[in-house]
Amino acid sequence: MNSRFVFLLIVLALAVTSSNAQQNVTDLFFLAEADNNVCRDNANRFEPTDGLQKAQGSCSDTVQGEIPDVDHMVSSLIIEPPNGCTLAANKNFTVKIATTGLITGFFDNPVNQYYKFPQVVDKKTGFIFGHSHVTIQLLKSSTETPDPRLFAFFKGLNDPADNNVFTQVIGSAANNGLPPGEYRICTMVSSFAHQPTLMPVAQRGAQDDCIRINVVEDSKKRRNALNKKRNA
Ligand SMILES: *[C@@H]1O[C@H](CO)[C@@H](O)[C@H](O)[C@H]1NC(C)=O
Ligand SMILES: *[C@@H]1O[C@H](CO)[C@@H](O)[C@H](O)[C@H]1NC(C)=O
Repeated sequence: MNSRFVFLLIVLALAVTSSNAQQNVTDLFFLAEADNNVCRDNANRFEPTDGLQKAQGSCSDTVQGEIPDVDHMVSSLIIEPPNGCTLAANKNFTVKIATTGLITGFFDNPVNQYYKFPQVVDKKTGFIFGHSHVTIQLLKSSTETPDPRLFAFFKGLNDPADNNVFTQVIGSAANNGLPPGEYRICTMVSSFAHQPTLMPVAQRGAQDDCIRINVVEDSKKRRNALNKKRNA
């Protein structure tokens, strides 16, 4: 079938099935694809993505690049700490993440090469070159989405994983572990140039994992604090 004809069929199908609002958004995508000049056409709204991380947004013309086959997709599992566990506050702990389908240890400079390069698949193994991250957010409740601008801990997992397992201590020179609260711990797998990894099919398992943990005041400390209160 002629590709122009297929395109026309898709447009017709969309015209029939879409509501007005959806149709307009769809038009945007088709227009952007048709002349591949979405960034030029948007120059008054978005400046070009040029390797810097632009908090104000930007428009990237980096192509998506190489996409692995279905036998070489990324998969992650946080294997430590266990999902739903309770940990002591202000005490370092270790997160271990098993990641398969990724050749780890590959990341470009996030200061001036962010989103600069297409995704690249290793010719020999068929897996994507990339890295991962661990990001931890405090949850206000079980129904309120956390603000993505806020995180309690963030770290790029740039070194090669050991036997497909990343190990990261949670803590900093200033603060051990996390203050009390309910937290979500997630992985964020990325290609070499930091874009989320691109997979060959839509219907699949997630390439990332998240768990929730509960961080509580050390029980001995809490007992002491309670005693102090009682004795006061
Ligand atoms: C979609 O486009 C139609 C026709 O151009 C216009 O009348 C309508 O207001 C648009 N709807 C939205 C949600 O922009
Ligand atoms: C907790 O981890 C941080 C970061 O690795 C480290 O600087 C700090 O010394 C650790 N604290 C303890 C008590 O080990």
